[in-house]
Amino acid sequence: MSFTPNPSTARVRTAHQIRVFLRAWARDPLGVAAVLPSGRQLSQKMLKPLSLLPDSDPAVQRVVELGAGTGAFTRALVEHGLQRRNLLVVERDAALHGLLRQRFPDLQILQADACALRAAAQASGYLQHGPADAVISGLGLLSMPRATQRSILTEAFSILRPGGCFVQFTYGHASPVSRALREEMGLQVRRAGLAWRNAPPASVFVYQRGFTAAHTCTAADTTQ
Ligand SMILES: C[S@@+](CC[C@H](N)C(=O)[O-])C[C@H]1O[C@@H](n2cnc3c(N)ncnc32)[C@H](O)[C@@H]1O
Repeated sequence: MSFTPNPSTARVRTAHQIRVFLRAWARDPLGVAAVLPSGRQLSQKMLKPLSLLPDSDPAVQRVVELGAGTGAFTRALVEHGLQRRNLLVVERDAALHGLLRQRFPDLQILQADACALRAAAQASGYLQHGPADAVISGLGLLSMPRATQRSILTEAFSILRPGGCFVQFTYGHASPVSRALREEMGLQVRRAGLAWRNAPPASVFVYQRGFTAAHTCTAADTTQ
């Protein structure tokens, strides 16, 4: 894949990506749950808890991304050196899925529903090489009914190793997964950063279940 250095070509591509995203939003405003793709600062904040940054312990190697949209987080994952065979990208919308396939022809990108993640990951062969270390979620979790949240989190934790991380952003300061659902599912949560330059500003939360000190992701970024 190539990220062209030509600024005018890059602008045309970005405009095209925004058009595809806006059309997806017009078709399904609640599902897409944002009118603009995430920016660079939020993408970096989403990756920070994963030890993927230079000079960090590479404890997190296998990642599944949910709700990739136009690929803001996908691009960041690739740029930070995640090996392509260790990355599985999931997007439900057909047009956005097509765009992602064009942008990242070498990656495994599934058109699938996060509510059926385990079956999709199994069918793709991803799980043959072991569970995921982390799930990066670009889903609009906050705007989903609790039953859908429960279903997505259950599927995600079913493919995560013990101590694996579910990383989620939200437009606001509170966890998008309620205390009641966290307690029901035995999830711990920590706030892992604020992307104040994002439009709109967004907070990053990390959820874990049944972890031991030996298995945890590295300490979350608590800076802004
Ligand atoms: C808030 S947008 C974020 C897109 C991208 N991650 C970003 O940050 O720019 C949410 C994305 O999740 C996708 N999506 C919504 N529900 C989904 C589901 N159940 N399974 C897979 N993708 C879903 C939408 O089509 C949309 O692309």
